[in-house]
Amino acid sequence: MASATAEYIARRKKEINALILAHYYQNPEIQDAADFVGDSLQLAQQAAQTPADVIVFCGVSFMAESAKILNPAKTVLLPEAQAHCPMAAMVTGEQLREYKQQNPAAAVVCYINSSAEVKAESDICCTSANAVQVVNSIEADRQILFVPDRNLGAYVQQQTGRDMIMWEGYCPVHDVLTLAQVETQAALHPEAKIVVHPECPPEVTRRADAVCSTAGILKYVQNSPVREFIIGTEEGFLHTLKQNCPGKTFYLARSGFICPDMKYITLDKLAAALDQMTCKVEVPPDIRQKAFHTLDRMLVLR
Ligand code: 13P
Ligand code: SF4
Repeated sequence: MASATAEYIARRKKEINALILAHYYQNPEIQDAADFVGDSLQLAQQAAQTPADVIVFCGVSFMAESAKILNPAKTVLLPEAQAHCPMAAMVTGEQLREYKQQNPAAAVVCYINSSAEVKAESDICCTSANAVQVVNSIEADRQILFVPDRNLGAYVQQQTGRDMIMWEGYCPVHDVLTLAQVETQAALHPEAKIVVHPECPPEVTRRADAVCSTAGILKYVQNSPVREFIIGTEEGFLHTLKQNCPGKTFYLARSGFICPDMKYITLDKLAAALDQMTCKVEVPPDIRQKAFHTLDRMLVLR
């Protein structure tokens, strides 16, 4: 049965014509309260095409910022202003400008897990779902600087064979998954397929049966005849997997696979944001315009 807070959220979002978007790593009750739950690419696509007046983003700040960049006229709310992706802070606009001055010929591909300012300084954006496609869309003879995730960059380089320089950023949640932890789970569950996110270290992605974005992991599991899976990504995603694949069993690749920033948003904070229209996300217009093109170049790729 829905709680009084969940009922209030459902009523209030209709009153103000709001769309609630949630990432797969959100707490289960937030995923259940959302209109749409997805990976970064799907959420950006939803944000780009919604007729709603208000977008409430249950995720981290770079996601809500991207929604605002795509929809400057709409109100975008992030129910917890302190929810930031630590990897996105590992490259700044200033650092990137400096790098570009020294290497003017390189094309810059930024992972969507980056600030609006970094997007504004980049040629094209990507998510983990389309990074290979985005890199392949760049002229074959151009060197590519990939920011900020060195692990996703290394995976894409392995898939494309392109000349790539990786920024030294990483996700503190995925980067600490070790091969030994994966081997322990594999020994315990020998029939299970190993499916991991490309933010995991190269020795882990090489060992996996599949390397996918969160939405890609869901599709892989749904289409697989196998019934057991070792999952190398954030634990909130197990809620989606269990809901969509009730007959299948999932083992987290390590215990405590949690992104603390993704867990800041609670039903109470979501209700308060809808009630008082607080935690509005703003992006300065000059940065927004440049960052829009970087995101749009990605979104028009099919
Ligand atoms: P996805 O785009 O696969 O959902 O990943 C986002 C993210 O932050 C992974 O850590
Ligand atoms: Fe950032 Fe990693 Fe959390 Fe994703 S899981 S939001 S990359 S810290």
